[in-house]
Amino acid sequence: MAGNYDGKVVLITGASSGIGAVAARMFAERGAQVVAVARREALLEQVIAQCRAHSPNSFYLSGDVGLREFAESIVTTTVDRLGRLDVLVNNAAVSKHKHIYHTRADEAERVLQVNFLSCVWTTLAAIPVMLRQGEGTIVNVSSFAAKLTPPRESLYAASKAAMSAFSEGLWHDLEGSNIHVALVHPGPIDTEIWLKEDEPPSYQGKKYPPEIVVKAIFDCIDRRRYEVTVPQRNPMLMTARFLRLVLPGVLRWGMQRTDPVPREVIDRARQRALAGKRLGETDEC
Ligand SMILES: NC(=O)c1ccc[n+]([C@@H]2O[C@H](COP(=O)([O-])OP(=O)(O)OC[C@H]3O[C@@H](n4cnc5c(N)ncnc54)[C@H](OP(=O)(O)O)[C@@H]3O)[C@@H](O)[C@H]2O)c1
Repeated sequence: MAGNYDGKVVLITGASSGIGAVAARMFAERGAQVVAVARREALLEQVIAQCRAHSPNSFYLSGDVGLREFAESIVTTTVDRLGRLDVLVNNAAVSKHKHIYHTRADEAERVLQVNFLSCVWTTLAAIPVMLRQGEGTIVNVSSFAAKLTPPRESLYAASKAAMSAFSEGLWHDLEGSNIHVALVHPGPIDTEIWLKEDEPPSYQGKKYPPEIVVKAIFDCIDRRRYEVTVPQRNPMLMTARFLRLVLPGVLRWGMQRTDPVPREVIDRARQRALAGKRLGETDEC
């Protein structure tokens, strides 16, 4: 049974599409005042119009959470306009699915800023607010990739693993404060993130609706759970988790077979290296 969010203030990053947009609507349907954050203003307008049908005070803030000043400002603006912050959902992220040979250093920096540091910046801004209130919840949307790194996802997985480690540390450090921290690990979810990948995804299996992730977020808040992986009973994810614990070498070997590195990718990377190019400078020599 979903909790009652009447009058609660919920700040959601990455709310213009996918999981974040569905979360915004579902929180508003439960009575929450939603602050939706992302870059694409036209989409945010649509999401907030739907939220306002249930909670008229909802609004959006458009900007880049990969910039510290903006990430901090979304917390202060929320509190200035709505007086409090009950739930912070750190959900914004970009995909980064490409061979390491094709990856530039500035891309690495950007992925870490958007996917991980944004969550640190909003959290550090939110903790004093929640301390003053005497309560609050921070939900971080990580990824199953944080638990095992798929081929071509080293940076994306690293950003999510960093988020997971940060969340666990917060859980320890916030003990006794009545600020609850939770971590959600989605598996394959049917959103537009799959269309934004730099190189075609090798995964062709089932994708699940974003609603299951939002239900996991509610579950974390309502039952004060720390960690939820969704979908919970997917045989592929269950097998992977088991192998990760018991036979990690077998898991790595198996995952590598799902997306082996083509010989020509290595050959071309070597040619570029011999020509003195930096990694990621992929215009052929
Ligand atoms: N879909 C999956 O299979 C899956 C699996 C595991 C984990 N996840 C995680 O679930 C979360 C939501 O992803 P999704 O699947 O719903 O994908 P999505 O539809 O692409 O949503 C990503 C959201 O993040 C926002 N965003 C990206 N960069 C931003 C930036 N610099 N500043 C502000 N907002 C930014 C995007 O909005 P704008 O472009 O408008 O800024 C969008 O609203 C992500 O953390 C993702 O890593 C997804």
